[in-house]
Amino acid sequence: MEKYIINGGNRLYGSVNIQTAKNSVLPILAASVLTDGKVRILNIPQISDVKNMVKILCCLGCKAVYEGNDIIIDSSSASCFEIPGTLAHELRSSIFLLGPVISRFHRAKIAYPGGCDIGLRPVDLHLNGLKRLGVKITEQNGYIHCSCDNLTGNEIMLDCPSVGATENIMLAAVKAEGTTVIKNAAREPEIEDLQTFLNYIGGKVSGAGSGTIIIEGVKHLRGGEYLPISDRIEAGTFLIAAAMCGGEIVAEGICAENISSLLHKLRENGCKIHVKNDKIKIQRLGRLVSVKSIETQPYPGFPTDLQAQMTALCCVCGGNSIITENLFETRFKYIPELRKMGADVTVSGRNAFVRGVDRFKGACVTASDLRGGAALVISALAAEGTSEVIDLSHTDRGYGQFECKLKKLGADIARTTL
Ligand code: UD1
Repeated sequence: MEKYIINGGNRLYGSVNIQTAKNSVLPILAASVLTDGKVRILNIPQISDVKNMVKILCCLGCKAVYEGNDIIIDSSSASCFEIPGTLAHELRSSIFLLGPVISRFHRAKIAYPGGCDIGLRPVDLHLNGLKRLGVKITEQNGYIHCSCDNLTGNEIMLDCPSVGATENIMLAAVKAEGTTVIKNAAREPEIEDLQTFLNYIGGKVSGAGSGTIIIEGVKHLRGGEYLPISDRIEAGTFLIAAAMCGGEIVAEGICAENISSLLHKLRENGCKIHVKNDKIKIQRLGRLVSVKSIETQPYPGFPTDLQAQMTALCCVCGGNSIITENLFETRFKYIPELRKMGADVTVSGRNAFVRGVDRFKGACVTASDLRGGAALVISALAAEGTSEVIDLSHTDRGYGQFECKLKKLGADIARTTL
């Protein structure tokens, strides 16, 4: 197991290039199963979730070749419709393959997915949506078994705007017979990106970014070269780190509109934010001011994937805040670790009540999920003294070259083996 050793207290200065979005790249990789030609995805992030998704594609019989920062997927040789538990448990996004695999092979067998332990994370909306397209589904011994004669378009109303279910249904419907309409669809930028990609390779999808997505089935999808959008959560994490540590950084290659809910809060915190083209500059000189409340919501609301990092920031503001987590039931697991650094927080159900302290103090803490892990790292950077953040397998899932990028900004951080 690996850990970071962090000597906190350095201000952050300089610029950081934002990676392509994990949550765009994963469904686009899944979509490559549907294509007749090769798909080249440009500038993929060096993260373990992507590596695990590629492993699953290879297990299905696809060929994957890394060329520099790009990956080329050739799914012409795909022949297998089963995803074993050993692979599916590694990442939640393995479930995205259900739609493409059924579309291609008319059957699929997949173990229940893994991913961050942040709540129940059911897949009922994925399965109900697929049933509406004509898929027969049974569940046995931890496996989901699917079969169908032909996928047929239909109207699907989601009970809640699930990102994964919206994407899975888009992927199943893009080559189905007839038209599919997804109502109460998720509106995240990554869903628009999936639509752009699918249309680029020959799909007929419209409406992504709104609550209604219309997919007219096509017979074939070709290959192509595609650059996914950049990672708003990685960008947000760096901006929050700079706000906590002080200094001035520029996040480069990021659409500010995609994280406007965060930028509003950071301005309320007393940070100066300047946006120009695809660059966001943040400057924090004086003491951070608390924001009264932050509530996670589906896009365009405040993202749950920045909740932990923002709670950490609230802990070192002058004043009190209430953070409400509306999406996932157990997404406050990092809070006992923050307390070891001196945070004054109590959790009651979906709410965390934060009383700001002057500074964090270095401590030995353990990560238990991806974004909670990121919150511990940036807290350690802002803390007085030395910290250890144990178990980097979580942050490695979503942050490529995390410590290199932080070091370039002036952080004192090193990776070692336990
Ligand atoms: C995606 C993101 C994740 C982000 C989350 C919410 C990817 C790879 N992951 O996860 O980073 O935190 O969106 O923005 O894109 N739900 C059900 N039944 C289902 C599916 C979901 O009840 O079948 C519920 C979930 O329990 C949760 C809510 O819907 O309360 C939102 O989950 P969802 O949008 O599906 O999240 P993911 O797609 O898993």
